[in-house]
Amino acid sequence: MMIKSRKPWQISENEVTPEQLYLNRRAFIGGSAGAALLGVTGLSLPAGAATERVLNPLAFSKTAYDPKEALTPYEAVTAYNNYYEFGTGKSDPAENAWRLQPKPWSVKVDGHVGRPGIYDFEDLIDMKALEERIYRLRCVEAWSMVIPWIGVPLSLLIKKFEPTADAKYVAFETLADKKQMPEVKGWFNVLDWPYREGLRMDEAMNELAFIAVGLYGKELPNQNGAPLRLVVPWKYGFKSIKSIVRISFVEDQPKTSWKKSAPSEYGFYSNVNPNVDHPRWSQKQERRIGEFGRRETLMFNGYEDAVAHLYQGMDLRKNY
Ligand code: MTE
Repeated sequence: MMIKSRKPWQISENEVTPEQLYLNRRAFIGGSAGAALLGVTGLSLPAGAATERVLNPLAFSKTAYDPKEALTPYEAVTAYNNYYEFGTGKSDPAENAWRLQPKPWSVKVDGHVGRPGIYDFEDLIDMKALEERIYRLRCVEAWSMVIPWIGVPLSLLIKKFEPTADAKYVAFETLADKKQMPEVKGWFNVLDWPYREGLRMDEAMNELAFIAVGLYGKELPNQNGAPLRLVVPWKYGFKSIKSIVRISFVEDQPKTSWKKSAPSEYGFYSNVNPNVDHPRWSQKQERRIGEFGRRETLMFNGYEDAVAHLYQGMDLRKNY
């Protein structure tokens, strides 16, 4: 990724411990014991903490989408993030994303669809049809998590918009608002905002592609992409675009943020593939956050049965 100084994925093993300490400290300070300690010591919470919004519990049904692997602790899922609009450090989103206002929210739907328009969040997501899916998220930086997401299949949303035969791809955009996002500036930007992602239509309609509105039984925290974000569990995490404000149905392969920024390193497909190295590091193994050591990375992140057919006959070295 294009950051010139230290790359966020360049985490040495001895930095794992401070991160764990950090997470423990965060969990502690967040609890009532922490509040009492702060009261006694006169320390103040970080600026955002006081205004962090309450995350409402969600009603949802359980599903069979469950790899039956240990869940990554909530504290790690919500404190170790990539959301560059709020900073490039792993803890920046948790520190800064309180500025995001996810309510009210609307999404512009345009392109080759029978029902274009500006949809309110409430009209897009049927809160009575929410389901929980436990998916692995494998980041391109070679770490991974297992997260209980709550949401709806992307295909349900897409059908609502009635795409036409000309819709070959779906393009997504994140909010880009200087007032809410400290890294969205006029002068130097780490990425060309808005953050953009895309899927081929058949990928988007695949049963695994998911729109998450919550995790761990509650609404999505801002740093995880409130109020709605994509989850594409067989692709590197950067495909899972956050805080979506636009969905476009297009004929040509859409431009995506990381491919635009570094085309030799990030392709359109970005399927998790242990056999194709990133030019600067191997993708064969990963570090599961919260575990010691490394585990083997699985083809399509372990979702081969559900998605391999989408890429039959394609050279996945060229189409990385
Ligand atoms: N979406 C936006 N808008 N901006 C980002 O920087 N980072 C991506 C993806 N979606 C990103 C984004 C990357 S690199 C990853 S690994 C996942 O979000 C991380 O999701 P998580 O923080 O919920 O684990």
